[in-house]
Amino acid sequence: DRGHYRHFMLKEIHEQPRAVSETLEGRLSQSRVLEEAFGSEVGAILDRVERVQIVACGTSYHAGLVARYWCESHAGVPCDVEVASEFRYRSHVLAPATLLVTISQSGETADTLAALRDARERGYLATLAICNVPQSSLVRESDLILMTRAGPEIGVASTKAFTTQLTALLLLIIALGRRHKLSADCEAAFVRALHNLPRQLEAALALEPSIEALAEEFVDKRHSLFLGRGVQYPIAMEGALKLKEISYIHAEAYPAGELKHGPLALVDAEMPVVTVAPNDELIEKLKSNLQEVRARGGRLYVFADAATAIATEDGYVVQTVPQSDEITAPIVYTIPLQLLAYHVAVFKGTDVDQPRNLAKSVTVE
Ligand code: M6R
Repeated sequence: DRGHYRHFMLKEIHEQPRAVSETLEGRLSQSRVLEEAFGSEVGAILDRVERVQIVACGTSYHAGLVARYWCESHAGVPCDVEVASEFRYRSHVLAPATLLVTISQSGETADTLAALRDARERGYLATLAICNVPQSSLVRESDLILMTRAGPEIGVASTKAFTTQLTALLLLIIALGRRHKLSADCEAAFVRALHNLPRQLEAALALEPSIEALAEEFVDKRHSLFLGRGVQYPIAMEGALKLKEISYIHAEAYPAGELKHGPLALVDAEMPVVTVAPNDELIEKLKSNLQEVRARGGRLYVFADAATAIATEDGYVVQTVPQSDEITAPIVYTIPLQLLAYHVAVFKGTDVDQPRNLAKSVTVE
């Protein structure tokens, strides 16, 4: 039931603060992640993990890419991520004590399932599924399960599944990290950030009217670029996927530092460039990337923290995103990009919940 919302997608976007709270429920104390809540056997397995291999498709793959940044920089554990359709057909070298993590909303994606089945024969330490559907094949066939509790997702474009996957991944990485590089103080700070997250998501949702106004400028565009750096690069990829999937505007994501290596040639007044710019350690580098776009007459749409002091001026449209904690910023910055894609699609009159050529769950190769 869509309730008073015009589309399931919009309803699901607005459900995110609650879906994230549910995913955290019973899994956090004031300052610690309660890993016992993931299952009694999890601790003994995490004790032995030395490396992580993540496998997923589409939006779930983007969640995996964010997790890689978190895992390597905060847990200090090596982490690889690959799309399932590539992973399953590539012979690869398996390092000892590797945990295979699959991520899937449906738990029925053919390539992800096949990768899991394959891995069981290859000698991974264990398999862990991050999944939203309790009765799914992926959940039945994995050793360990960390459920997202987003509730049913009907819109083909994945929204609340993604933000709850990121939430679950952060819990996992904290639990793993405390056995490696993550200090108790750092864990406590991340847990505080997780407690703040539902409120910050609410604040990001309040941007909807101004994002809707921005969206109108995209209606007659055929192409767009999305830029991010570091952990926000996969968020740019996810924003681009949302836009292309439901509005049929070609959208391509680049790490901002790659601009000069090719895509800058595409930039002109007809090319909107969407940028995710929280105030992190890469902000000064990002600002100089934006100058490069501006110098070529490109129109920039920047989602930024007030502290970045990027102001609306010629060629820049800045949408200030409410203050968030650095660790959870990728989750918060997802919201404005979802809203942008949604409103562009509504202006264009496409079938938002059932985009052409796509199925909610890809159960064939
Ligand atoms: O159910 P899954 O998470 O395994 O699905 C993976 C992809 O098919 C899915 O995320 C797809 O990319 C979405 N339509 C993206 O919005």
